[in-house]
Amino acid sequence: MTDLFSKFDPLIQQREQLLATGVTDPFSLVMERVVSPTVAICNGRETILLGTYNYMGMTFDEDVIAAGKDALDKFGSGTTGSRVLNGTYQGHKECEDALKEFYAMDHAMVFSTGYQANLGIISTIAGKGDYVILDIDSHASIYDGCAMGNAEIVAFRHNDVEALEKRLKRLPPEAGKLVVLEGVYSMLGDIAPLKEMIRVSKEAGAMVLVDEAHSMGFIGEHGRGVAEAQGVLDDVDFVIGTFSKSVGTVGGFCVSNHPKFEILRLVCRPYVFTASLPPSVVATAATSIRKLMHGSNKRAHLWENSKSLHKGLRDLGFTLGTEEPQSAIIAVIMPDLEKGAMMWEALLEEGLYVNLARPPATPAGMTLLRCSLCAEHSSDQVVEILGRFERAGKRVGIIG
Ligand SMILES: Cc1ncc(COP(=O)(O)O)c(C=O)c1O
Repeated sequence: MTDLFSKFDPLIQQREQLLATGVTDPFSLVMERVVSPTVAICNGRETILLGTYNYMGMTFDEDVIAAGKDALDKFGSGTTGSRVLNGTYQGHKECEDALKEFYAMDHAMVFSTGYQANLGIISTIAGKGDYVILDIDSHASIYDGCAMGNAEIVAFRHNDVEALEKRLKRLPPEAGKLVVLEGVYSMLGDIAPLKEMIRVSKEAGAMVLVDEAHSMGFIGEHGRGVAEAQGVLDDVDFVIGTFSKSVGTVGGFCVSNHPKFEILRLVCRPYVFTASLPPSVVATAATSIRKLMHGSNKRAHLWENSKSLHKGLRDLGFTLGTEEPQSAIIAVIMPDLEKGAMMWEALLEEGLYVNLARPPATPAGMTLLRCSLCAEHSSDQVVEILGRFERAGKRVGIIG
């Protein structure tokens, strides 16, 4: 018998080597209690959360929690069915209405996760013989959507407008083309030059999908994302998003003005062949989305936090993923996985949680400590975070 697990041997070995150094496993942390969007108890210690993507801090919003409890009481714990059968409740419609209003678009379709939204939309609209042109650093759900749909994948260099244009020019003019971009790239926290990319895509006759997972709620005047901030939202054919970041719960969606959009509800397999979100989840999502429409003060405070942390870390001597803060994600580049894991552990001992990211999820084989800020972090917490980075960085020898 061939052991089907033998393909995982290199990863098993790498993990064993890392744990043999005595470092805590960075991928099995348990949050024993969550006190607020910015504080949890981990290993019995009060810990500041700086790696949750809870950008707008909606997880403990009183209206959001009340809406979830009410829906749990009135509609039960789950739908036990697909959206196209018994799984569409009033709350799912209300959630889609909230999204249409939030984006000022004609259509909205809610999926059970953001992963499934990308998987479903990309695989359904780009099939055999079509082309998906994507940034090489695209999220796994985008790549998986391409694989499932069987379209030809054409990748271009990260955030390179010229490379995108060149690839588009080489494709048959009559072929179906979908350009897939992200507003914010979650590994380094950098934003895409959407304005130029959308221009060259449209000139080549391509449709455009933008995943705004890490910008919804925060970037743009109304929090609609990077496409809004760059004044090109009207030229985007499909916006994909998630409820697992700024919205503060779980779920995914696609919004669009395409006149035939509604047919997707019958042909999109990751929408049809899975159970719909529980009533409590769609109720929390709808309430949160409606509150995010009026979140400009929170957006301004989150920008302040992002700028202070970026400047503070740079002044301490850390190497960061971007020259300037471009989003609420600040990536601190580590020399290697071992040092990265040591630094991650030292920060946890200081009472600070960040995400450790390593290849293959990261670009160019980098090990990163990814920090994601929250609108609920106080200015004092940001000062505290910098102190903890300084102490841990000196202890591990990342900074002098
Ligand atoms: C760019 C991007 N798209 C989609 C997703 C998937 O979202 P979800 O957590 O809702 O499955 C993520 C999540 O990390 C993401 O970063």
